[in-house]
Amino acid sequence: MIVGIPKEIKNNESRVGMTPAGVFELVKNNHTVYVQSGAGEGSGFFNKDYQQVGAVILDTIGQVYAMSQMIVKVKEPIELEYDMIQEGQILFTYFHFASSESLTKAMIKRKAICIAYETVEDEDGTLPLLTPMSEVAGRMAIQQGAKYLEKPVKGRGVLLGGVPGVAPGRVLVLGAGVVGIQAAKMAAGLGAHVTILDINMKRLRYVNDVMPPHVVTEFSNEFNIRKHIKTHDLIIGGVLLKGAKAPNLITRDMLKEMRPGTVIVDVAVDQGGCVETTRPTTHEDPIYIIDDVVHYSVANMPGAVPYTSTMALTNVTLPYALKLANLGWEAACDKDDALKKGLSIVAGKVVYEEIIDAFGWEGALA
Ligand SMILES: NC(=O)c1ccc[n+]([C@@H]2O[C@H](COP(=O)([O-])OP(=O)(O)OC[C@H]3O[C@@H](n4cnc5c(N)ncnc54)[C@H](O)[C@@H]3O)[C@@H](O)[C@H]2O)c1
Repeated sequence: MIVGIPKEIKNNESRVGMTPAGVFELVKNNHTVYVQSGAGEGSGFFNKDYQQVGAVILDTIGQVYAMSQMIVKVKEPIELEYDMIQEGQILFTYFHFASSESLTKAMIKRKAICIAYETVEDEDGTLPLLTPMSEVAGRMAIQQGAKYLEKPVKGRGVLLGGVPGVAPGRVLVLGAGVVGIQAAKMAAGLGAHVTILDINMKRLRYVNDVMPPHVVTEFSNEFNIRKHIKTHDLIIGGVLLKGAKAPNLITRDMLKEMRPGTVIVDVAVDQGGCVETTRPTTHEDPIYIIDDVVHYSVANMPGAVPYTSTMALTNVTLPYALKLANLGWEAACDKDDALKKGLSIVAGKVVYEEIIDAFGWEGALA
């Protein structure tokens, strides 16, 4: 198969759909790989790195789309790319169709084969192509939180690890899922005291088994949240209700109960946030302050560490990309139920029910 790796042109996106290690595997399997010049630069991979493993570098994004049977990327195509997409071309990337009717309509019109990373789903209901980004965001949440706890940026002026003779900082983690566990692990590693809350006892039992004793589990309810916000320096929001808006576990009135300079990193901002006062921010302007509480709520946290994020993403997408290239999309999806769940739009027809529901297009399912 001929596989194309275009440069991401969405604002502030520095990740790339495939690393040189991925190109190496595809070329080893007798596929041709076209990489747009400079596509990997934002993630620290240069043209010569791709050429060394057998990729052909093309000058323009138009050439990559025109000459490839399958496009592997990171973000959904933006408007500029719509007309470059060819009928029958496989697009393997994050789409998040339910949040954009115009993107969905454009992909239907182009009659491409759209396989969405975010809906590839394992038997146990986990989403293997989303997990690495939650891992990145969870770990980064502590790095960012520690930074904004510093006084010059209006934080409490607390060093998370403390020092001999001074108690460590206290971190409250809401949700013991992928984000929450990675955040708890990082905070514990710095020496902070960690309290982690969830409503799922299985998750709490797991955390209790694997974490050191300074990571304490408690059931998530309003009483416990109100109690802990008064004494914790950094609060991480990592809750998720699948397919729904995140619940507002911290309401506006609770900010007054927190000490000035408390920092909230609401990772769940992409699902509306689990703090009433959360609104999406960007890496250029990541924080704002309400009632002396610092809010950090960047919607694409992994974008700030493109090297790690690209590696983490492509580690999990490559086996599927290889399968698609080796077998073609129909046979690959027939043989792999997880990959089949990623099929969203096929040759002009929506085949993923949630997209139909999102836009109220009943009766339109293929
Ligand atoms: N901002 C970013 O850049 C970024 C990056 C990656 C993920 N995310 C978001 O982070 C959020 C968490 O993702 P995840 O992969 O960890 O999800 P997950 O499904 O692994 O974990 C969510 C956890 O929240 C728990 N939960 C649900 N209701 C709760 C409540 N009332 N109190 C406490 N816990 C509750 C669930 O039991 C589950 O354990 C999602 O919204 C995801 O989209 C954001």
